[in-house]
Amino acid sequence: MTDQARADQAPAAAQPLDLEFVVHLYPDPVLRRRAREVPIDDETRAVVKAMFTRMVKSDGCGLAAPQVGLDRRILVLNPTGKPEDDLALVNPTIKERKGGDTLMDEGCLSFPRMYAEIKRPERCVVEYLDLDGVKHEREFDGFVARIIQHEYDHLEGVLLVDRMTPVDKSRNRAGLEALVDKWKRTQGR
Ligand code: CO
Repeated sequence: MTDQARADQAPAAAQPLDLEFVVHLYPDPVLRRRAREVPIDDETRAVVKAMFTRMVKSDGCGLAAPQVGLDRRILVLNPTGKPEDDLALVNPTIKERKGGDTLMDEGCLSFPRMYAEIKRPERCVVEYLDLDGVKHEREFDGFVARIIQHEYDHLEGVLLVDRMTPVDKSRNRAGLEALVDKWKRTQGR
């Protein structure tokens, strides 16, 4: 049997994952699914590596697996752009949000060229697994806490548009409608 014949006979689930990730844009329904926990294995490590590659290419400081079409509880982020500040959180849970609310302009790779001022607590305590399967509980603050809370929203199917004030929503209305139109056109093909 040729490799091609084997591939043809293999069930869909056995197909290797395509790690050439593209960013899924609003209103793709994959962004609305609640993501599922994953095992720590070679595939999860490969997904994390490919997510970092995608994030850097897209000039982002954080990326959640649903944004690359996977309903898996995986986040990658880097608040500074320095390689030593890469942080991957697998199966994260925000245990506690602390401190006063802060306001910051947020963007999102799934909403290109859109920004909105979003209110979030200053700090958060997160439990997560690293790529060796070691469980951590850490408190984050400032910009990192901001990124984590934004990306964590993605795992719950919550998006930037849901957190916009009415003013920001109306300011971004044309952009949001353009994304919906574009998505509808791709569905028609
Ligand atoms: Co986002």
